[in-house]
Amino acid sequence: MKASVEANNVIKLPMDKLALGMFIIAVDRRQQKVAVNQPGQIKHRDTIIKLRKNNIAYVWVDIDRSSDTCGLKKYVKPNGLSNPLAKKASFTIDEQHAKAKKILSEAKSLIQKVMTDTYEGRNLDVGQFEPVIEKLIECAINDTDAFRCIAALRTKDAYLLEHSINVAFLLVTFGHHLKLDINTLKQLALGGMLHDIGKINIDDSILHKPNKLTAEEFEYIKLHQVFALNILEDTIGLSQMSIDVCLMHHEKLDGTGYPKGLKDEQLPLHGRMGGDC
Ligand SMILES: [Fe+2]
Repeated sequence: MKASVEANNVIKLPMDKLALGMFIIAVDRRQQKVAVNQPGQIKHRDTIIKLRKNNIAYVWVDIDRSSDTCGLKKYVKPNGLSNPLAKKASFTIDEQHAKAKKILSEAKSLIQKVMTDTYEGRNLDVGQFEPVIEKLIECAINDTDAFRCIAALRTKDAYLLEHSINVAFLLVTFGHHLKLDINTLKQLALGGMLHDIGKINIDDSILHKPNKLTAEEFEYIKLHQVFALNILEDTIGLSQMSIDVCLMHHEKLDGTGYPKGLKDEQLPLHGRMGGDC
């Protein structure tokens, strides 16, 4: 079966190609585009009938998690980068310290860069936040499970780390302006650091595509929020607030965002803040 987007483990299929044993990670409604309710393997024909009745045009299928007999050919990944926690056993404590130290020093320079890029020439005294933000980001990097995610972000792409620090910085500055307490700022910072963690599972050829994305590739990129859900489920010790910041940063108040199309009161303050950054 031919993949419509050339990603290594995910394909978009029209409904008439959906078969038993396939693992659906997202559905594409005619109007709403990527949406996720409950990802899972199709075990009964009734589910296919139900999806058709619900006006689903396409489904995104995870080939690796589909059954061997469903008709999809599995792609063997060269190195298991899909879930940063899968590498748990491969770091010694010394290696982890060395890597955390390196990322922390990179993060500190990036904080300086973000401050200069964002605030230079503006009449705002954000210098006061620098030690707080540095401390919060240091906490995130020293948190063992969060560290694995942040290290995976850095491995995937230097820009991803910079962008994540940028978002963490903006969230903390915004939160400080709203007079939120330090514990809340810490959770916001961690959510900001991890907000695009799902992009580590997006194919490099599409993530770094220099030309304009096709509509379908754009829909594929949106799946980073579905992948994030999987990764965060395996990440121990994250608060619900940090998870929400990550999973809600593409939702919109009017319900037109993704992956769930949440709206109004379904979006808590911290979820809305993530969307603004
Ligand atoms: Fe994102």
